Amino acid sequence: MKKLFVKTYGCQMNVYDSARMAEALEPSGYALAPSPDDADIILLNTCHIREKAAEKLFSDLGRLAPAKARKARSGGRMVIAVAGCVAQAEGGEILRRAKSVDVVVGPQSYHRLPALIAAAENGGRPVETEFPADSKFDRLPARSRAGVSAFLSIQEGCDKFCSFCVVPYTRGTESSRPVHAVLAEANDLVAHGARELTLLGQNVNAYHGAAPDGGSWGLGRLICALAENPDLLRLRYMTSHPADMDDALIAAHRDEPKLMPFLHLPVQSGSDHILRAMNRRHGADEYRRTIDTLRAARPDIALSSDFIVGFPGEGDDDFAATLDLVRTVGFAQAFSFKYSARPGTPAAMRDDQVPEPVKTERLAALQAVLSEQQGRFNAEFVGRAVDVLFEKRGRYPGQLAGRSPWLQPVHAAAPATLLGSVATVRVAAIEPNSLAGVLREVAA
Ligand code: SAH
Ligand code: SF4
Ligand code: F3S
Repeated sequence: MKKLFVKTYGCQMNVYDSARMAEALEPSGYALAPSPDDADIILLNTCHIREKAAEKLFSDLGRLAPAKARKARSGGRMVIAVAGCVAQAEGGEILRRAKSVDVVVGPQSYHRLPALIAAAENGGRPVETEFPADSKFDRLPARSRAGVSAFLSIQEGCDKFCSFCVVPYTRGTESSRPVHAVLAEANDLVAHGARELTLLGQNVNAYHGAAPDGGSWGLGRLICALAENPDLLRLRYMTSHPADMDDALIAAHRDEPKLMPFLHLPVQSGSDHILRAMNRRHGADEYRRTIDTLRAARPDIALSSDFIVGFPGEGDDDFAATLDLVRTVGFAQAFSFKYSARPGTPAAMRDDQVPEPVKTERLAALQAVLSEQQGRFNAEFVGRAVDVLFEKRGRYPGQLAGRSPWLQPVHAAAPATLLGSVATVRVAAIEPNSLAGVLREVAA
């Protein structure tokens, strides 16, 4: 077998795509290698969401150049392929900027990867960034392996056009996979050992897949259909948009015990003025009301979110409104970022950009509140019994690691036979990045 090394940047969608690209290259004789040294193909699956993420590609390419030269001196060839959102956004420009790159392939063209690699092995430098009319999913091979917890992409692209975001440009317009294709891939993954599925989409709750009954199903209905598989124990989904939390999806949180009580629902800001300028299509109070409805449906639901500080025009009062929203909602976990101006997006063109030191100060203030909330959320678990789906071996011999329903990493001494099962664990201590537990009994 020839060696394929894959590095994934960015979101879960890229993690999923990387797995599918590796599977697509398998029939051509490529197997995953743990290190880039001496690899026959280096596949870099990139992210364009913030400037730093995009620049990472070029610093990594710089580091790879000597390994490529070494391989060439010994008579071999190392093909470097750039996939993902930087590939889509910059296309052939990447070939000009980085001489070591042989292939550029955008996120909608991964089914073409084996052919593009073959062209590069014959000395070509192909660039493929089309948005073809037919879905890449129909042309990728069926799933051949799965971890206990697996990603399943059900929706791609975004039509929301938030004024700061590159995703509608790099991933294209919103499209949902048909229900039968999602169910078939879910069954494949479960047959290969998956017990938890996280349904993915850039705007996953905008899902509206063509259904066998001739209609179109939303995410709530899809989740209920997936939950019928008796070997599937848990379902999650991400990332959602607050404006697309419809009644059927909220009802699924109430009625479907396999749907885990944890939701990542990015709000970005707590200021109505900034939310409008971001083109987020909802106000701060609408977000609070959505959370209230969710909590009424599923009282133990925990929330996570994304925040951007220093969006153009954000004043002290706007930032205070964000802190106020965080305090009134209460988050179990959250990601927060300084606004990064992205080429081609409307917000980047504004002349009221917030100075860097102000962004730094606001980010620190927000993160202090968020991390205090996260600490408090986790601390309440000490002494409690939680159901853990064991996904892998832990750091120490005899230990397994998994997740609670609220996505907290948990480890406990447990026999390897429990891998892929849910067991009840009593939380003994809170560690910096996980909960330490003691196994109680086998629950499923
Ligand atoms: N589809 C999701 C997430 C998209 S990207 C959503 O609608 O929320 C993940 C996160 O990156 C976003 O939620 C946002 O918080 C952040 N992000 C996107 N563009 C950004 C930018 N230009 N600068 C800083 N953060 C950004
Ligand atoms: Fe980007 Fe999400 Fe807004 Fe779509 S909804 S434009 S992916 S932030
Ligand atoms: Fe990044 Fe593209 Fe995902 S820009 S966050 S890899 S959709």
